[in-house]
Amino acid sequence: MCGIVGAVAQRDVADILLEGLRRLEYRGYDSAGLAVIREANNLVRLRRVGKVQALSDAMIDPLPGGTGIAHTRWATHGEPNERNAHPHISHDEIAVVHNGIIENHEQLRVQLQRAGYVFESETDTEVIVHLIHASLKETDSLVTAVKTAVSQLRGAYGAVVVDSRQPDRMVVARSGSPLVIGLGIGENFVASDSLALLPVTRQFIYLEEGDVAEITRTEVVIEDASGKVVDRPAQESSASYDAGNKGEYRHFMLKEIYDQPQAVRNALESRLADDHVLEQSFGAQASEIFANVKHVQIVACGTSYHSAMVARYWMESLANIACSVEIASEYRYRKPIVPEGSLLVTISQSGETADTLAALRMARHSGYLATLAICNVGASSLVRESDLAFMTRAGVEIGVASTKAFTTQLVGLALLVLAIGQHQNLNALLLEEMIAALKSLPEQLEQTLLLAGEIEKLAEEFADKQHTLFLGRGDQYPIAMEGALKLKEISYIHAEAYAAGELKHGPLALIDEDMPIVVVAPNNELLEKLKSNVEEVRARGGLLYVFADRDARFISDDTMRVINLPHTHPWMAPIVYTLPLQLLSYYVAIIKGTDVDQPRNLAKSVTVE
Ligand code: G6P
Repeated sequence: MCGIVGAVAQRDVADILLEGLRRLEYRGYDSAGLAVIREANNLVRLRRVGKVQALSDAMIDPLPGGTGIAHTRWATHGEPNERNAHPHISHDEIAVVHNGIIENHEQLRVQLQRAGYVFESETDTEVIVHLIHASLKETDSLVTAVKTAVSQLRGAYGAVVVDSRQPDRMVVARSGSPLVIGLGIGENFVASDSLALLPVTRQFIYLEEGDVAEITRTEVVIEDASGKVVDRPAQESSASYDAGNKGEYRHFMLKEIYDQPQAVRNALESRLADDHVLEQSFGAQASEIFANVKHVQIVACGTSYHSAMVARYWMESLANIACSVEIASEYRYRKPIVPEGSLLVTISQSGETADTLAALRMARHSGYLATLAICNVGASSLVRESDLAFMTRAGVEIGVASTKAFTTQLVGLALLVLAIGQHQNLNALLLEEMIAALKSLPEQLEQTLLLAGEIEKLAEEFADKQHTLFLGRGDQYPIAMEGALKLKEISYIHAEAYAAGELKHGPLALIDEDMPIVVVAPNNELLEKLKSNVEEVRARGGLLYVFADRDARFISDDTMRVINLPHTHPWMAPIVYTLPLQLLSYYVAIIKGTDVDQPRNLAKSVTVE
């Protein structure tokens, strides 16, 4: 989704802005632009549809200037074209970049048009820049003008503003869309994600909701929502400069698939003793809270929602605690009944997904015992606003299609189930068995990745297909859903997932030789049931691709291709069986020539509703 970078420095900043935008490309976008103050009263803007490279190519002459802002846009209001790309400007003086959505933009637009402002774009953002311009007729202070303007906005914004008449500063405002200030020596920066600024600084101040800050080369003055000047501590980032580098791999997605054994190792590190889970991994208050949990409600979006669905099976059968799971965009608009002793668990790779955050914020007033975020980004809004947090430690994930974030979320959820189970008389032997299974997981993932060559060949059979069906049962049903989501996200092949027991209630009608059916078949208690479902498909001429435990005794023939996976503990199978499905999608996308890391129309971090 949209990305923001801004800088105030003595040196020329155009290249820093472009590099920042490149590092945000993974979020998904359709156009890019920047504005630099060349000297007082001389604002230069450049915008292009398409990739940041197109913007860079358009900069034929060097663009000098020490103050500038830049943006990658993911269209919400108005189609992706140059006119709608950011920065938006008013009277060649004020320039703004904005993430988020202004809900009352139509009303403000009419008001501003009456006051004589002419609109160049169809965006909601353009009202912000004209509002600031109008406010500056009453004051010389850019901060005051920005505060006056944002007080009229309804919706979500992270915005950065510059005024060519005051070239030594930028003003930033955050409400609903994240912004981070990067502190340099004699220069300062801002971005929607600290990753954008890693080449220039490691010191970051994360703005809070409602903050407005004025940033010059030597000073950062932050006011909170009540207008009080506040001191927000700077944090040192430990992320590596090269976190955005795909190394020897052709795509970030492939690198991230192969990162998984190590990512899972990191997720487990210092969190397990031989016979119990260290509950402090979830926060200082975790033990006290877990002891009182009687019900768990999980809320998430996309891939994170699929991990929640797996956890429901685990939570009820292992920890003996009732567990409900819901998509955040649905949950937030319901009036849910919250049973006594409920823990709200939100799951999110980014920690900035608008619907998940809204569900968390709503839950504060709904009588929950406590809230827990399972998240990959420590400084995210979700983590900061939750009582407890479990960091998945997957490392930066760049590919829009989530891979290592998902498997590490599952690890976090398995630890959560065991931690809560520890307060529910979870059988000590079973607990030890689960802990041993978790510890052996990285090695099993390594072995599973050895199937890549076989899966690459298999992918050729999918590339000319229009539709596919993914089947699983029990805790493999969400894995079938995740496999189908991966395939549609990056190869654009229509893919549906079904709980295999539902086949005869509809999807059997679709089966013919043009529709491959992918089955996930670990050796678990539902294996025999699943085999019957597989026979239902075979009897109707369907073409099956079965990812199966080698002990499950599926045999390849004309209508069935069997890919054998290493034997795995049944509880760990959802994590292990995810990998071949990720690889399958990846190789199908390669054959189809689609944009693997940045699939069309999708964004990595969905910070608007
Ligand atoms: C977007 C991404 C998905 C992700 C979902 C939820 O749709 O493309 O990969 O699963 O958002 O994101 P989150 O950061 O909350 O896990």
